[in-house]
Amino acid sequence: MKKIIFDTDPGIDDAMALILAHASQDIEVVGITTTFGNASIENTTRNALYLKQKFGMLAEVAQGVDTPLDQVKTEPATLVHGDNGLGNVEIPDQINAPLSPLVAHDYIVETIKKQPGEITLVAVGRLTNLALAIQQAPEIAQLVKEVIIMGGAFGHNGHTGNLTPFAEANVYGDPLAADIVINADWPVTMVGLDVTQQTLMSNAYLEKLRTNSTKYGQFIHDITRFYAKFYNDDLGLDGFYVHDSSAIMYLIAPEIFTTKRGHIRVITEGAAKGHTLFKNSDRVFPIDEWTHKPKQTIAINVESQIFNQRYFDIVCSN
Ligand code: BDR
Ligand code: CA
Repeated sequence: MKKIIFDTDPGIDDAMALILAHASQDIEVVGITTTFGNASIENTTRNALYLKQKFGMLAEVAQGVDTPLDQVKTEPATLVHGDNGLGNVEIPDQINAPLSPLVAHDYIVETIKKQPGEITLVAVGRLTNLALAIQQAPEIAQLVKEVIIMGGAFGHNGHTGNLTPFAEANVYGDPLAADIVINADWPVTMVGLDVTQQTLMSNAYLEKLRTNSTKYGQFIHDITRFYAKFYNDDLGLDGFYVHDSSAIMYLIAPEIFTTKRGHIRVITEGAAKGHTLFKNSDRVFPIDEWTHKPKQTIAINVESQIFNQRYFDIVCSN
């Protein structure tokens, strides 16, 4: 059983990823830490508590901060995820799930220290909480099992950005945090647009999921109507790309992903803000801001048909 803390900004695809993790026999979601992005921190936290309550999740929920490290705030992505962050499906005013008294980064530090070598951090939003945790307690780098991030774009399969031509939204939203987290001395795998935009869930697939998964099908179908419309209006897609669930799937079925290792830096300002740059070779240059950093892993390909079948089988198994 792989124990995870899921750092997230639910978020329609975040909710689908959390459902996958919760439904999987291979994963125990120990904690859910919230970040801002797809919606305000208040809304993403409310949505996390709602998901916990609705599906009987045991994970503790801890709220994160509401500002990126560079203090440059951006508007929530309501165009993609709706005003409430969950495609404007109705969410009750009163949610009876408890919130941790700890702020997310303290929760992350405390939980990792309590269970050394056990916890995998899976981050599918901006990396602010993880950056604050590792800055505050660098020793957790040696205590965490691994760090899996949905974020970045390295140009494989033609994918270089979604929010800007050269930046993926989670990295763009806090590029300083991303550079800190990616370059800390812990094992990181980045599951970026290179693979997440290779998997598409069509409306027919979601309809099949609706009728086959008694527990989750209708909910997934309902929250994704808004998301699918955005992708159709914006890119003419029938359905949508599968971002955050790709990070969870990497944990469940790493064998369906192709990866490579190298050094990564993030551009933190200017026109290319949020751009992730991967250095492939071991050549040392006269000026080199890459080589002295730890080597990390990026996902560059995925077997998308197997992915969709696995997602379906797991979600429909209960
Ligand atoms: C990422 O941005 C967010 O909108 C999604 O939830 C996903 O984590 C994709 O770029
Ligand atoms: Ca997300």
